[in-house]
Formats: sequence, C-alpha cells, structure tokens
Amino acid sequence: MAIDEKKLTDAVLARMDGCDDARFKQVMSSLIRHLHDFVREIELTEAEWETAIRFLTATGQKCDDKRQEFILLSDTLGVSMLVDAINHRYGDGATETTVFGPFFVEGAPDVQMWADIRGAARGMPCYVSGTIRDLDGKPVANALIDVWQGDGEQGLYDVQIPDGQPYCRAKVHTDAQGRFGFLTVQPISYPVPTDGPVGAMLMKMGRHPFRPAHVHTMISAQGFRPLTTHLFVAGDQYLGSDAVFGVKDSLIVDFVRHEPGTAPDGRVCNEPFTTAHYDFVLARA
Ligand SMILES: [Fe+2]
Repeated sequence: MAIDEKKLTDAVLARMDGCDDARFKQVMSSLIRHLHDFVREIELTEAEWETAIRFLTATGQKCDDKRQEFILLSDTLGVSMLVDAINHRYGDGATETTVFGPFFVEGAPDVQMWADIRGAARGMPCYVSGTIRDLDGKPVANALIDVWQGDGEQGLYDVQIPDGQPYCRAKVHTDAQGRFGFLTVQPISYPVPTDGPVGAMLMKMGRHPFRPAHVHTMISAQGFRPLTTHLFVAGDQYLGSDAVFGVKDSLIVDFVRHEPGTAPDGRVCNEPFTTAHYDFVLARA
C-alpha cells in the first residue's frame, strides 16, 4: 500500500497491534494522532523540524542532578498545571495544590518547632507558622512538611549556586496540636532559569520569566492524601502573570512586616521581620 501523508497516521497506529499494555497503547496512539495532526496543521518545514530536534536535545542536555529543564518546559507551557488540575479534581475543601517545580531536593534535614532553616540564605527574617487539620477541623499530629524556597535577596535556590551550601530546605513536623513553625527568609519574586533553551523560548514568545514570591511545601501524613503546594506572598506584582501559571487565590497569604521586637518563637528579633500564618487542610486518603 502506498503511504501518503494521510494514510501514514493509520499505518503508524497499526504497528502497535501487538502492544499488550492497554494504557500505554492508548497514550501512544493519542500522542501519535495529535502529533501528526499538529505537523499537518502547521505544515512543519524541514528547517523547523530540525529546530525542534535541536531544542529538545538542548533541553535534555541542560538537565543534570540539580537542573531539570524538562520540568521547566512543562511548567512554562502550562502542562504541569494541567496535569495538576486533572489529577486533583476534589473540591472537597482540602488545601489546593500547585506545581512541584524543578528545585526540590531529596533528603532535607529534619528540624524541630521554630527551627531556623535559613542557613546561608540572606533576606529579611520571616516566621512562617500554622496548623494542619483534617476536613473536620481536627489537628493532624506528626505530619511532615517538606519546605523549600529561594533566598530573600536574589531569589536563587541553593541548587542554583555552584558548590553552594544547602539553605532554606527542611522537613518540618507538626506537634500534637497540629501546629508547625519555622524561621526562614522573606521570599521574593524570581525569574525561572533563563540561561537554557526554555529561557530562549520564553524570550522569543515575548514572555517575562518571573514567578511571584512563594514558599514550596509538600505535606504527607499517615492516612491522608499527600499535598504539594505553595504559599504565595500577597501583593506580589507577578501574582497575575506567574511564568508557570501556578497561582490560586486560596494560596495567597499575607506576609506581615514587623519592626524589631519579640518574634513568634518568643525570642527577640533585632531587625525588621515578617510573619505569615497558614492553616492547611488535608483530606483522608
Ligand atoms: Fe519556586
């Protein structure tokens, strides 16, 4: 049979007749159909095909154990938030989710209540506290909150600094009343990495690369649905144009500025500081 540009799609799909993984076959069939339709719709030139290959190659080559350019690509194209939305259609009152992002690192240190997690990070001291409760308002004791964020002066994550020491990463735990608290730096808005192919893509699209200031949290507790989300700083200029489309109104928190004085941990802070409070709600698994 002569294969023309229309019959080609069916020919490729037919080659999967021997595939015995139904979900994989469904995913690949749809991918092939959409990809072929896309190529036909835009009448892809050979030069554009080559540009696409080079772009994807560069995206992979930019990845290492600390840099994840493919997650950044997914995030900036809105795919990560689409996957997030499809997989968390609960509407049950639990705290809303948002993107995981490319900067999580396994193995952060376990810390006690009101630990100082700033390490080498500079910025205004920021006391973050709150509670974790279930849908009935009962405290969730001994929940684990993985916290990570950038510094408060340049907006860089520790992993973006060559040979840098870890900072602003910790495993925070709730007490018997479901309370948590830690000392970090006031987060600031920051650009996603622009020194790779994704940065070049954003520039060509006429987009800015900024994310509104936020603290990342990933919460797990026995018997509850895991929660990956952010706390966004109210008033940030990029809340309406997040480069990765991650903002949800319910996750915007007032970070209140205070003059030097007694901090929420009971100690005296000799410089201006901020406080933020958030009550997370977890649903049963
Ligand atoms: Fe982030």
